[in-house]
Amino acid sequence: MTKLEKLRRFCCASKATVEQDIPTCPSRSSTSTSADNPWEVFTLKQILQATSNFHECNKLGEGGFGTVYHGRIATGGEIAVKRLKAMTPKAEMEFAVEVEVLGRVRHRNLLGLRGYYAGGDERLIIYDYMPNHSLLGHLHGRRPADKLLDWRQRMRIALGSASGIAYLHHEVNPHIVHRDIKASNVLLDEKFRAKVADFGFAKLMPDGVSHMTSKVKGTLGYLAPEYAMWGKVSESCDVYSFGILLLEIVSARKPLEKLPDGTGRRDILQWALPLVEGEKWEQIADPRLGGRFDPIQLRNVVVVAIRCTDGSPENRPTMREVVELLWAGIRPGRAKDVKAVVVEQKKTEEEEEEVEAMVMIAQPSDGFSSRDNFVR
Ligand SMILES: Nc1ncnc2c1ncn2[C@@H]1O[C@H](COP(=O)(O)OP(=O)(O)O)[C@@H](O)[C@H]1O
Ligand SMILES: [Mg+2]
Repeated sequence: MTKLEKLRRFCCASKATVEQDIPTCPSRSSTSTSADNPWEVFTLKQILQATSNFHECNKLGEGGFGTVYHGRIATGGEIAVKRLKAMTPKAEMEFAVEVEVLGRVRHRNLLGLRGYYAGGDERLIIYDYMPNHSLLGHLHGRRPADKLLDWRQRMRIALGSASGIAYLHHEVNPHIVHRDIKASNVLLDEKFRAKVADFGFAKLMPDGVSHMTSKVKGTLGYLAPEYAMWGKVSESCDVYSFGILLLEIVSARKPLEKLPDGTGRRDILQWALPLVEGEKWEQIADPRLGGRFDPIQLRNVVVVAIRCTDGSPENRPTMREVVELLWAGIRPGRAKDVKAVVVEQKKTEEEEEEVEAMVMIAQPSDGFSSRDNFVR
């Protein structure tokens, strides 16, 4: 059986229609949750009702694969529905891949799949609705000063999204390369916790295969050079994109910016590297923060970003190392050297909560208490 066939089988009710209202996937509802069948049953009728027939005013955004709508289900809960565009065989394959991948991935910093619908021409993916939308709007949208993501929120988001990606790379078997790490794929829940979204581009990597070559997907400005030029995919491409995202989080600059004189575009690295070389760390911070950031944390995080965006993939840290480096660089008052933190350490849930809490209590008025000697 080919991979596509296997995946097609996985999409359990591809012939469902509105009239039939056949449940399209196994259930994880309160009545029938099981470890084998972790998903909720959604009928097309329910989804149409929830989104007022995909009404324009429920539109949350649009991406390469389709349009995302907000929906309110009869029980009162909120959902986000991704309605895929044309159903070419290629898109069908990608739908199947996304569903298959998402269905088995569960981590508190990943946006898991709640359900899906596959019937007639419709392919719909249902997620939890993230009330604070994507990081993109928070970094680049026009927001009043009191709605701006503050420094500690940014550090939590950086750590959270790194943890989610590290889980994809190191814990899921076979490993998953995301391939489209970017600000609009980091969604924020009601407590502004990061949930990395969109595994539509992800390919399952069999164990022992370090890289493969394929057509380039992803978003300009975030692409690792070896991926953009030769289509060479590996986990370190995600590490590169994450490095760009880190710079974006601290600076609120776009990965690619038009130069004011109209002479072309400049990427965020071209902008940041001279500042790093001149040790002008503070000029890298988002000016809208008005100086309310921890300068040591800022320097540490920028150093991590620079290591992630090394031109040679073999010089980049792994995502697991990135999490450790960020922990060490953000954790107030607990100095760690880069060499020490690259040693693999598994954190318990409680330890992770502890660091989150520390980041939370590092108030700007305290002068941010971290005093470590992170490498330059
Ligand atoms: N679960 C969700 N909750 C809230 N908003 C979402 C959700 N999923 C997606 N969105 C919004 O829909 C937009 C479009 O998503 P998507 O189709 O994945 O394209 P892209 O990631 O390229 O922006 C996102 O930028 C985000 O703002
Ligand atoms: Mg997306």
